[in-house]
Amino acid sequence: MSTELTRNFSIIAHIDHGKTTLSDRLLEHTKTVSQREQQDQHLDAMDLERERGITIKSHPVTMEYTAKDGVTYQLNLLDTPGHVDFSYEVSRSLAACEGALLIVDAAQGVEAQTMANLHLAHEQDLAIIPVINKIDLPSCDLPKVNKQLEDIICIPAEEAIPASAKNGIGIEDILEAVVERVPAPVEDADGLLRASVFDSVYDNFRGVVSYVRVVSGSMKRGTRIKLFHTTKTYEIKEVGVFTPGMSKRDELKAGDVGYVIANMKSADEVKIGDTITDNTHPCPKPLDGFKEIQPMVFSGIYPVESSDFEALKLAMGKLQINDAAFTWQSESSVALGFGFRCGFLGLLHMEIIQERLRREFNMDIISTYPSVIYEVTKTNGEELLIDNPCMLPESQEVQEIREPIVRVYIMIPSDYIGEIMKLVMEKRGEMEHTETIDETRVMLTCTLPLSEILIDFNDKLKSMTRGYGSMDYEHAGYKPGKLVKMEILIASEPVDAFASIVHQDKAAPYGRQLCKKLKEVIPQQLFVVALQAAIGGKIIARESISAMRKNVTAKCYGGDISRKRKLLEKQKKGKAKMKAIGKVNIPQDAFIKVLKND
Ligand code: GTP
Repeated sequence: MSTELTRNFSIIAHIDHGKTTLSDRLLEHTKTVSQREQQDQHLDAMDLERERGITIKSHPVTMEYTAKDGVTYQLNLLDTPGHVDFSYEVSRSLAACEGALLIVDAAQGVEAQTMANLHLAHEQDLAIIPVINKIDLPSCDLPKVNKQLEDIICIPAEEAIPASAKNGIGIEDILEAVVERVPAPVEDADGLLRASVFDSVYDNFRGVVSYVRVVSGSMKRGTRIKLFHTTKTYEIKEVGVFTPGMSKRDELKAGDVGYVIANMKSADEVKIGDTITDNTHPCPKPLDGFKEIQPMVFSGIYPVESSDFEALKLAMGKLQINDAAFTWQSESSVALGFGFRCGFLGLLHMEIIQERLRREFNMDIISTYPSVIYEVTKTNGEELLIDNPCMLPESQEVQEIREPIVRVYIMIPSDYIGEIMKLVMEKRGEMEHTETIDETRVMLTCTLPLSEILIDFNDKLKSMTRGYGSMDYEHAGYKPGKLVKMEILIASEPVDAFASIVHQDKAAPYGRQLCKKLKEVIPQQLFVVALQAAIGGKIIARESISAMRKNVTAKCYGGDISRKRKLLEKQKKGKAKMKAIGKVNIPQDAFIKVLKND
């Protein structure tokens, strides 16, 4: 079967350079959606995506385009997310393509992520079509961007297509370039079925829907398929393509990008990156798989009301079905009760999951301070992976702790180079090299511990450069560090929710900050309460809350007994919302305040 008339391509860009807007124009121009249906930003379907203006999941879509040569081509577009947390989705989409549109904002020019994405596209040997978007902007500087393309990314300026996704300029040129410059997919000569699964979603009515790219052979309703990883077999119930909604087809053949519904009950039966083949005539070996997705950031998520535990568990299960990168398992904490240890790709991913739990499932949750995953060698030679500070063995049992390192690309106006280098040093970073991009901008390459860029690095970079700085990162292995477990003791009792793994030099200021904050939120008790930060039994910071004789009935002079009773009742109720740490009662919201503001 011929794949000559098929083109699979992706759009890659720095965040906000206009991928989604451009995709929408392509859908309109090819009449895949009508103007009337067009409610802007078709591919960003999730509410949260629309609100935050970021693409989270990849959405493939099939378009038909009759080119200037009079032939109708089938163009499969795979949209990709722009945020660094989701770069694994970019690689997945790119693996299903032969070409990519590289969007560069005509006013902003090449950014850190343009480079990182281009690097990913080169790794997959894709044909690159540069598109300079937003040429309608008065601040557009075409000669500058052209020069950047030539100097930094080594793409001849004449290959670049000027466009305005907003005003529909250059859309036809882009479609023609896709037809001309993106190679048609090549099918294996044996014609045996090979389809790679690049995503899967769970649909309440139809079960598991797997997104696939058919590399060779074909499949249709009734075909008995086998998944290489699990070796399980299934009968296909339906195949189809996205236009952009699910649209049923008789058959998916080599080169096609679409979906398969088989009689799978749960999402974990299909592994992203697995190969589907025909059970009767299987291909000899699976296609090259994708990199396994590894969560990089961990945090505990607990229900505020312990009775919500089961509901929270159910909600997490539902979220995970469509998000293989999100992991969770039960854990319990003295301070917070029963909850879950969760793994995320990065901070944005974490925020999104938390927000979805709150919004879509109406859950009232507390989350603990985020942590990365540490490699620990014990003195007895045992190797451990630690994602929860509480699980770190006592310091005398630890020989070495290694922490994850990232290589960070930072693009900034040259004026800020001194300040940003200082920021990198403060965050325990090391400079690798500095590259001049043009007269006004430089690109810094440095390595930093992942834990140091987790919280506020990007925000600081943005505010220090008045929004002109941008960054991207890739994982760069593990490195030993002087890391210690810091515990917080309230009235001499360690509180597990506040334990953290920190660098030795940063422990004291961080400990002081936590003790101070706790002092603000814990109410006075009938005795003096000591708040301490400790490393292996050694106190490094302390605060204390002075004693108070609490007499709630003191206000009731005169002795109105019913009022007194009411107040006592109220106090009793209030106590129910307290967590007892040793003999200290701490209101639930004290934990929330301390954990949230950090
Ligand atoms: P992510 O999905 O978050 O990576 O963003 P994106 O690259 O998909 O960007 P998006 O399409 O959401 O566009 C970002 C902003 O740029 C939006 O406010 C668009 O309206 C605007 N925009 C997109 N294309 C153009 C254009 O050609 N001209 C102008 N002036 N604005 C544009």
